[in-house]
Amino acid sequence: MKHLIPDHILGLFKSSGLKPLQIKGREILPIVQGGMGVGVSAHKLAGAVAKLGGVGTISSIDLRRLHPDLMKKTQYLLPSDHSKAVINSANIEALKREIQLAKSESDGNGLIAVNVMRAVKEYTSYVECSLENGADAIVVGAGLPLDLPDLAADYPDTALIPILSESRGINLLLKKWEKKGRLPDAIVIENPRWAGGHLGASNVEDLNNEKFNFDVVIPQTLEIFKSMGVEGKIPLIAAGGIATGRGMLAAMTLGADGVQMGSRFAASTESSAHDEFKRTIVETGEGDTQLTLKELAPVRLIKNKFYNDVQELYAKCPSKEDLENLLGKRRAKRGMFEGDLVEGELEIGQIAGLIHDILPVETIVDNIMTEFNFAKNELSNFEF
Ligand SMILES: Cc1cc2nc3c(=O)[nH]c(=O)nc-3n(C[C@H](O)[C@H](O)[C@H](O)COP(=O)(O)O)c2cc1C
Repeated sequence: MKHLIPDHILGLFKSSGLKPLQIKGREILPIVQGGMGVGVSAHKLAGAVAKLGGVGTISSIDLRRLHPDLMKKTQYLLPSDHSKAVINSANIEALKREIQLAKSESDGNGLIAVNVMRAVKEYTSYVECSLENGADAIVVGAGLPLDLPDLAADYPDTALIPILSESRGINLLLKKWEKKGRLPDAIVIENPRWAGGHLGASNVEDLNNEKFNFDVVIPQTLEIFKSMGVEGKIPLIAAGGIATGRGMLAAMTLGADGVQMGSRFAASTESSAHDEFKRTIVETGEGDTQLTLKELAPVRLIKNKFYNDVQELYAKCPSKEDLENLLGKRRAKRGMFEGDLVEGELEIGQIAGLIHDILPVETIVDNIMTEFNFAKNELSNFEF
């Protein structure tokens, strides 16, 4: 087992009572920074998390926006198939650069992962680019990546990590992957009621289904592992609404081996989100966010004019096309990357009241481990 946690963190890590996460023969911190689209999690954030021994995740979506030379080449193209191809190749070039920069910033610690959404057209090209350019892990959400073992057949050392929300999907994926001779190196279990980003449920009402609860999915998944004879081999990483060491302890008490946090790291110094969006995250209080979108993938949004427009549009029963026009990814870019708090889409998890400051990644990771230790001691003093 290769230890990829740096010495200056090891002392605090050991005294926190946390166990390392083991992925592909490597021991790392059980803290995963989730991939966050439209430029929120790029090399600076992913590299900083990995440098401390955790998993830093680059989101593969539209990364050209972080590279002025690539933007210059692509921003004024008129819509056409040729323009799409030019934009795609700029995004691939940007992804390549981002992986290389993140790896060099990590000093060889932790893991550098790339998040790719199964549902996007560029899925295959983003996965191939990540594999070719040395990403340590490919993390796939927004759909069942049944073909990922085929795409990664020539890369046995790259960790493959699907994001799923309920045990039926996990069972299906495990059975299909088993036939291909490869199992996931970890599974992220993302609770759609609490997580930030676009969520794995067909509509908002479905999100209340108890099949998504951590205390249902985690034990069911452990049972599936047992029936397949792979118990203890595939770490489970809980995601959604976790922003503190206390939340981490709750997830681990239910059987998770690690946690993935998105919103907490979106409001870090190293995140590439706009400062206005970061400020809004730390100011978000109870009742300021709401799950929305029925026909398209549900998402939790900070309530602003864009959110009100979405609600109004829904009331008029629009076509899927009208919705897509209003909700295109440009709105997410406008909100989270450009800081338009009025017209932009502001995605966030259910973390109201848990994040108070924009902090450097190192302070966030230190705080999480200290809080975990404190909460663990509190629990052991509690009489049931
Ligand atoms: C602003 C934002 C953008 C996100 N974008 C993506 C994405 O592109 N792909 C993805 O799989 N998950 C995405 N997520 C989900 C995160 O990776 C993570 O699983 C989630 O934020 C966990 O919930 P939390 O925010 O409550 O910690 C996003 C989350 C946020 C907050």
